[in-house]
Amino acid sequence: MKKILITGGAGFIGSHVVRLFVNKYPDYHIYNLDKLTYAGNLENLKDIQDKPNYTFIKGDIVDNDFIQKLFEEYRFDGVIHLAAESHVDRSITNPMEFIMTNIVGTVNLLNAAKYIWKNDFENKRFYHISTDEVYGSLGETGYFYEDTAYDPHSPYSASKASSDHLVRAYHDTYGLPVIISNCSNNYGPNQFPEKLIPLFINNIRSNKPLPVYGKGVNVRDWLYVVDHARAIDVIYHSDKVGETYNIGGHNEWKNIDLIKVLCKVMDKKLGRPEGTSEKLITYVTDRAGHDLRYAIDSSKLQQELGWKPSLQFEEGIEKTVDWYLENQEWLDNVTSGNYQKYYEDMYGRR
Ligand code: NAD
Ligand code: DAU
Repeated sequence: MKKILITGGAGFIGSHVVRLFVNKYPDYHIYNLDKLTYAGNLENLKDIQDKPNYTFIKGDIVDNDFIQKLFEEYRFDGVIHLAAESHVDRSITNPMEFIMTNIVGTVNLLNAAKYIWKNDFENKRFYHISTDEVYGSLGETGYFYEDTAYDPHSPYSASKASSDHLVRAYHDTYGLPVIISNCSNNYGPNQFPEKLIPLFINNIRSNKPLPVYGKGVNVRDWLYVVDHARAIDVIYHSDKVGETYNIGGHNEWKNIDLIKVLCKVMDKKLGRPEGTSEKLITYVTDRAGHDLRYAIDSSKLQQELGWKPSLQFEEGIEKTVDWYLENQEWLDNVTSGNYQKYYEDMYGRR
């Protein structure tokens, strides 16, 4: 039985990856290592928690002794590394957490994999999940390709860029069998309501203002989270080593246009007159260093490995809204406690 370590599996994307692998590969044992920060939630995995090929391990990737012992004990065949601090706004107020988890934590995992695999890399794999934000910001035209030069602007994207470089360095220097993917903005069930779409769903639900940064003209390329998990499955199982794949939905939206679509869908689902939610839109101070536009060219992944997105955005956003409205308890649970303080600190001063 192959032993695969998935880090950050209790978070948004990680939980979808864990579910896919546990259900699809009964001959793998999936170990989900997560610190359970504010963003990690075992409720996300209730449906698979009792499966015989699944084990949850609570732990911190920054704790090097713990990571070394874990790898010595389980001798994983593969690692899919998603654990990270992931929210740009939090990285602006507290960069150090991002340096520790995203950079130091990644190096701890690389060292542990290198140590237990020695030089026997046959059928081994270290898959690092990264972001399109490492490429910086586009103007009105053009795309991010796998060979686009790195140009990160936020502490978050700089920490992810740094971890990407280190992962590549371990391949080039030690021959570690790594693979990297850089994905665009994900949306879908289980995303923590600090990110645009779930934050705005939650605020519309409780008739709170919708804080649009700047003029709302920034563009993001949105991909349904299950399609990202499918891409991770395809890339993990490819025989490529040392490669990079960009993942994206060819689905660009200016923030304000996306927000208006979301408002319409919410009005319909909540049975409110059309236009009700749009009235909540409030323009606030822009995010510092706000990247204008992200857009991914994913043709390498599509052509080499045959992946393509399965969902159109209109369908994805309806499914997402339905999930949040059907799972209000989840939303209430994750927004109790520290969330209120975060919200006041973040938006009280805008
Ligand atoms: P998330 O914030 O929802 O989840 C991160 C998970 O990592 C949480 O479960 C958290 O508890 C865990 N974690 C954090 N610090 C840890 C530590 N020190 N040790 C162990 N576990 C720790 O993040 P997400 O949105 O699911 O993103 C997952 C990965 O995908 C990240 O690496 C992120 O950079 C990348 N990514 C995200 C997006 C996106 O749109 N959300 C897009 C492209 C790439
Ligand atoms: O591109 C991939 C990245 O997408 C991931 O690597 C990150 O982990 C993920 O958080 C996401 O980063 P963004 O900064 O693009 O996502 P966010 O949801 O925070 O913001 C999306 C856009 O909406 C961005 O232009 C900022 C804007 N925004 C966001 C919030 C939270 C607002 O206008 N108001 C808000 O309150």
